[in-house]
Parts: sequence; C-alpha cells; structure tokens
Amino acid sequence: MLDMEKIKKITVKASGEYDVLIGEGLLDFSGELIKNVASPNKIALICDDVVDYLYSSKVIRSLERANFSVVKFVFKNGEKSKNLNTYAQILSFLAQNKLTRSDLIVALGGGVVGDLAGFVASTYLRGIKYIQIPTTLLAQIDSSVGGKTAVDLDEGKNLVGAFYQPSLVLCDITALYTLPQKVFNDGMGEVAKYAVLDEKVYSLVSGDVCDLFKLVYLCVDYKRKIVEKDEFEGGLRKLLNLGHTLAHGIEKLSGYTVAHGKAVALGLIQIMKSALKRNFIDQQTFDGIMNVINKCVGEVVLEYSLEDICTNATTDKKINGDELTLIMPYGIGDCRPVKIKIDDLWGYLA
Ligand SMILES: NC(=O)c1ccc[n+]([C@@H]2O[C@H](COP(=O)([O-])OP(=O)(O)OC[C@H]3O[C@@H](n4cnc5c(N)ncnc54)[C@H](O)[C@@H]3O)[C@@H](O)[C@H]2O)c1
Ligand SMILES: [Zn+2]
Repeated sequence: MLDMEKIKKITVKASGEYDVLIGEGLLDFSGELIKNVASPNKIALICDDVVDYLYSSKVIRSLERANFSVVKFVFKNGEKSKNLNTYAQILSFLAQNKLTRSDLIVALGGGVVGDLAGFVASTYLRGIKYIQIPTTLLAQIDSSVGGKTAVDLDEGKNLVGAFYQPSLVLCDITALYTLPQKVFNDGMGEVAKYAVLDEKVYSLVSGDVCDLFKLVYLCVDYKRKIVEKDEFEGGLRKLLNLGHTLAHGIEKLSGYTVAHGKAVALGLIQIMKSALKRNFIDQQTFDGIMNVINKCVGEVVLEYSLEDICTNATTDKKINGDELTLIMPYGIGDCRPVKIKIDDLWGYLA
C-alpha cells in the first residue's frame, strides 16, 4: 500500500488544475494514482531506450494491475531524438493503435521524453490527456511542470511546441538513484538557476546537506507560483529563462552534445559575470552563486567564444522583433528583465 502521508502534493492551478505528487516508490503505484485523475481505455507509454530498460516494466505492471491496456513506444535516448521525425513516428504509432480522445499518454523519462510526448499529446486528435512521470532531476524540478512542450528544429531549440498542461505529475525520488553522475549534475545546472531566483532554494543548496525530496519540492513550488500567475509567458514567467538565451546558443553550437542543464550553468556564469561588472550584484553574491555552481554542477568549462554563443543565440524564442529580453540578477531572489537589441547582446555581456 502507498502511504499517502509520506507524499507531498503541490496543486498547480493553471488552465488545467493538476497535482504534482512527490514521494518514494510512486512508480509502483502509477496505475492507481492515474486512476484517480483519468479513466482511459488505453494508455500509450512513451519513453526512451534507457528508461525503458530501467523502469517501463515496473510502470506497465502497475498500469495493468489497474486494468489499463498499455501500448509502448520507445525511441533512442538523447536530445537528438527531440525532433519532428520522432514526433511524427509517435503520432503514427498512436493512430495505428487507435488511441482515441478519451485515452491517455504517459511520458516516462527525462525532459526529452516529457517535451516530446507532451507536444504529441497537445496535437494528436487536437489534444488528448497526458501524464508526466519524470525520471531525471531536471525533469522533476522543472520540465515536467508548467506545460511547456516542444521539439527542436535544425534552426534552433524548442522552436515548435505548445503550452499544454499535464493532468498529473508523479515525481518518484527513488528513480533519481540510477542517474549517472553526469546527468544528475546537468539537472543541478537548472537547480543553480532556481538558487538565484529563490532564496529558499539558495539556502538549501548552499548548506552542507541537500535533501533531494526538499529540493524537488521547493523548485516545483517556486515554478508553480510563477506558472499560476503567468502561464503563457507574457511577463513574469520569463524569469525562468535566466541563463537560457546563452544556454540555447551553446547547445546549438555544440550540435546538442552539451546537455541542456550544463548549458544553463554555463549561461548562468556568463550572466553573473556581466551582472557583477555592471554592479547589479556585489562580489559576495557572485561568489555565493559560483560556490553553488561548483558544488552542485562541478567544474564546467566554456569551450566557445562569447561572440559565437551570442550569434547562435539569436534564434531564441525570447526575441521580439529586433529585441530580446535578458533576465539579469540584482540579488538572490531578485531577477529582472532587461530589454536589449539583438545586435547589442555580445556588447552587453562582453
Ligand atoms: N518543458 C520545459 O519547461 C523544460 C524545462 C527545462 C528543460 N527542458 C528540456 O528538457 C530536456 C533535458 O532533459 P533531461 O536533462 O532530463 O535530458 P534527457 O531526457 O535526455 O535525459 C538525460 C539522460 O538520462 C537518461 N535517464 C532518464 N532517467 C533516468 C534514470 N532514472 N536513470 C538513469 N538514466 C536516466 C535518459 O535516457 C538520457 O540518456 C531538454 O530538451 C530541455 O530543453 C524543458
Ligand atoms: Zn531549462
């Protein structure tokens, strides 16, 4: 039996209201937890090959115990699969298996699976329900919540997508125990972003012990507050893009071999340097964040020139006309948007 007392629940009140459950052992109970929010005939489980090997049989067992009939689609792990080709293959798979509007998609995996499966859910039959079961740190603290779904184009990251909220998010902390150190550290890059945005996350990660359960809870709760106020990124939600304009440039330059979380950490370092130089933040704040990045992400080395990164960042979605909104830190828990001309990006940061 699942002990609900030990599960933390965060309810996100966006265009659809849904719960994010955080606990241990949720994968084994995914069937009964899903039964509380949906009653599909069929479930399409979508995952990558690594997660398939590690967790799909556990989840399928639970889904079948709850009397769901399950079909499974597996694709090759990695950002390179987050494209229109895989998207089209999944759509065909759903149609061949005759999934209807009353059926359900379950995204089991990291941010790549969640973004891809979520985008499929937003468009298949003009939208069917989906549930996120994130299995990476990055996906649990960030990508599974808030309803941003997308695939990449050769021209840039996340250029095709939709805002489409899931019906439930299940964060099983025990799934994080099998993460390779590198993938875990990549997730910590996104945690470092939250540490600049939110004092509570900052004090948790700058302390001696960092409880994973608390970390996921604090990050999701911070994101909830933002998403509830500005689901479609009219203003406030842009804060979550801290470090991301440069991160997307770095990812693109590397042919998507640099992981998103690591790119966020690298982007964040450049933004912090620029904020220090402009006296937006003092040396102590700068050092504090650098300590957090060193401790959480490890040593990260920028292999590209800032000029090249800026050039490659100009397909970013945060661009409006010839302007882009850069999020700049003025202190821990105090970040503000700054509008600059695209052509001035390098000059502004250099
Ligand atoms: N939608 C959003 O709001 C949002 C926010 C942040 C990032 N993202 C996107 O998320 C993606 C990155 O996500 P990611 O870092 O999770 O990458 P990922 O999904 O590629 O996962 C990283 C690797 O970990 C493996 N893996 C997953 N779970 C595992 C587990 N429990 N044990 C062992 N291995 C496991 C995967 O197979 C993969 O090889 C990027 O595409 C990024 O753009 C989206
Ligand atoms: Zn991100």
